Amino acid sequence: MNSLKKTPSEYPQMFHYHDLAIALHPEVYEPAEDSFLLLESIMVHPEDSILEIGTGCGLLALAYAYHGADVLCTDINPFAVQLTRQNIERNRTVLKGKIEIRQGDLFSVVKNHERFDLIFFNPPYLPTKKNERTDGWFNIATDGGPTGLRLTKRFLHGLRMYLRPEGAAYFIFSSLSNRSLLEKYMKNERFSATIIASHRYDGEDLDVYRITPTA
Ligand SMILES: C[S@@+](CC[C@H](N)C(=O)[O-])C[C@H]1O[C@@H](n2cnc3c(N)ncnc32)[C@H](O)[C@@H]1O
Repeated sequence: MNSLKKTPSEYPQMFHYHDLAIALHPEVYEPAEDSFLLLESIMVHPEDSILEIGTGCGLLALAYAYHGADVLCTDINPFAVQLTRQNIERNRTVLKGKIEIRQGDLFSVVKNHERFDLIFFNPPYLPTKKNERTDGWFNIATDGGPTGLRLTKRFLHGLRMYLRPEGAAYFIFSSLSNRSLLEKYMKNERFSATIIASHRYDGEDLDVYRITPTA
């Protein structure tokens, strides 16, 4: 995770991923190891319907729409929503699937009848103490509360209603937070889990969890 906030003058304006041109913004999380680990480990089929929670600049959502999937993405940060909207327009001609962005907290902007084959979230997962927290959107993108699992817990709680019975959800977990607590949350919400990819960065293990609903 990008744990150091950059000043606007240090910010790259734009990067390319395959045919996609993705603009960045100082108030929006810049894709890092966690983003690319998640992006490269989810198998997407062109006919899939996908929900991404917390899309940031929209990289993953756009990459899957580029592949042909229909994607709904959300973010609580209005700068991220505006940036993703611009990135969608910028890449419109190369996107094969439909893509829509909505602003709001987790599943609050998903309609009751909407269901997805695949739902994923690269959540804010850094464990933080009260005195480490700062104001602003960068903190919202990275701060996972005292355990690092504050947003992951809420994601697991809301997920089942929007996931098709045969669907799967994916999220990033950091070894800096608490694995036994995560396992307890998944058990409480009746998901079975496998780790499908892992990587070690600077003494921190990042895992991609794939979870599916159990009866
Ligand atoms: C670690 S960043 C990941 C951004 C992008 N998906 C990526 O992988 O590069 C976490 C994102 O979740 C968003 N976020 C944080 N809390 C949220 C919430 N309650 N509801 C929706 N999005 C949220 C942040 O604004 C941020 O864009």
